[in-house]
Amino acid sequence: MAKLAIIYGTGFGNTGIMAKAIEEGARGAGIDVIMKKVEEASPADVEKAGAIAIGSPTYKGAGMPTVIKYVENLSKLSLKGKVGAAFGSYGWSGEAAGVISKMLKGYGMDVIEPDLRIKRIPEAEGIGTCKELGKLIAKRLRNVL
Ligand SMILES: Cc1cc2nc3c(=O)[nH]c(=O)nc-3n(C[C@H](O)[C@H](O)[C@H](O)COP(=O)(O)O)c2cc1C
Repeated sequence: MAKLAIIYGTGFGNTGIMAKAIEEGARGAGIDVIMKKVEEASPADVEKAGAIAIGSPTYKGAGMPTVIKYVENLSKLSLKGKVGAAFGSYGWSGEAAGVISKMLKGYGMDVIEPDLRIKRIPEAEGIGTCKELGKLIAKRLRNVL
């Protein structure tokens, strides 16, 4: 079964809400999903996945250091041609998702654009957008298989 790995960091839970909605959208579209907080994840978690979604909130104009470190470690894997997506909650500037998106592109991944940024706590509309991203990832994943 086509598989999506969602790995995310979150300080106050907002990016976690996004991750869960992306998961729901992807599962609803019939793909297998593994979802882990970055603290519990290893590069092996994404190795067998055809699509990888990475989430991080923005803190001090950057991504969470734990998430950025995780994405840096992915450079050891062969990710070329896999579907990628970056997402994250932010307060005012929202750099994190853009930084991650660029890193995934650097690995030769087929990155969905634009990356998904939601201000503060995701409301119904934002949750809907996250679910749509999950569906879109599922669709792209089917196209590359
Ligand atoms: C110490 C601190 C620094 C922050 N720095 C930024 C920032 O530079 N840019 C920004 O857009 N939001 C910033 N924020 C806001 C967070 O990104 C926002 O609260 C987000 O919803 C947190 O997501 P989370 O619940 O997934 O941790 C900051 C928040 C805190 C507490």
